[in-house]
Amino acid sequence: MPRKPFVGGNWKSNGTIESAKTLCASLNSGAAAYRNKVEAVVCPITPQISLVNKLVRKSPMKVGAQNVSASKEGAFTGEVSAGQLKDSGIQWTLIGHSERRTKYGETDEVTAQKIEQCQEAGVSVIFCIGELLEEREAGKTDDVNKRMMDAVYGKIKDWKKVVVAYEPVWAIGTGKVATPEQAQDAHAAIRKMISSAVSEEVADAVRILYGGSVTPENCKDLIDKPDIDGFLVGGASLKPTFTDIIAACVPAIPLKKPKFMKVDGVEPAARGVNFFGKVVKAPTKVEGSEDLMEVVVGDDTAIVTLSVRGDRVKVCEVGKTVRVQNAHVSMIKGFIRVAVDKWSALKPAEEEVASVNEKKDMSGVEYELTNN
Ligand code: 13P
Repeated sequence: MPRKPFVGGNWKSNGTIESAKTLCASLNSGAAAYRNKVEAVVCPITPQISLVNKLVRKSPMKVGAQNVSASKEGAFTGEVSAGQLKDSGIQWTLIGHSERRTKYGETDEVTAQKIEQCQEAGVSVIFCIGELLEEREAGKTDDVNKRMMDAVYGKIKDWKKVVVAYEPVWAIGTGKVATPEQAQDAHAAIRKMISSAVSEEVADAVRILYGGSVTPENCKDLIDKPDIDGFLVGGASLKPTFTDIIAACVPAIPLKKPKFMKVDGVEPAARGVNFFGKVVKAPTKVEGSEDLMEVVVGDDTAIVTLSVRGDRVKVCEVGKTVRVQNAHVSMIKGFIRVAVDKWSALKPAEEEVASVNEKKDMSGVEYELTNN
């Protein structure tokens, strides 16, 4: 199953009742552009949660908290427990934001306790991780992310209630956004970590958001990356154009009808199909299209023609093995269709395929890489 995009707005300690009302009006008017296609949550300051909940109730926007207690309810002045969030109709909370880690001493152990509380209460979590500038410069990005993730695996029973937000601290509030390649590399590494620590199934399904100086302008190149499933937005979530960022995450519709080719002996209808293929023909331009390229990949059983748009054609060098993830394979009237949408991934693979049989062409594939 392709992952449903997710966008969170973290209002931090900003705003007044008046500004919240104005912002909610723009959240409502921008909702049609992403309804049912992107999951969206805003996290206002605690006293505004119920007001914002009320103001956006007709839109698909959900409302979350920015923090939650590591303890159950009781004599903990200033704390709000996960059970109390749930009781107040609040489905989401942030945990482990770098501002809480660096300014309020929230440790890995505390994030783990908070996640445990949320899992028990059934509250969904946007779990934030990410490295400091000096850690990136020392080449420790993956180590830091691994340490933060390792701390919480043992507490998570229901991964459907967890979204991971990779927020490099040097990119937060600085206007210095990670490049799409930097973000993609970190996200792919996080997904691999989850795959090793939990399971491939969980790793394939979990949404990993990017956060740090995201704007309506820079979000499009980021969302194009296969392992970036949405955003956690700070400053830009306080502006009426926040919904443009959400709308940019709507998966694109295939540009043209997939081709159909007759084959024998293929079982019908399978979703989430992953396959490897060696690129057997250099990409060729599709006539009548500006940037659509056709690439033929295969293995020793079959070949597939992919229509590839945008940057990802760069991975399609002849002889290289690529990995197509999450394709939807179906049999229609004796013809096989392999549909690969934007939320599928085409990437260089570590595996090698031994040989390629160019005779068994099994399908046409629509591969869409840009939003429209
Ligand atoms: P900015 O988008 O303002 O950089 O903040 C990101 C963030 O901290 C979201 O949680």
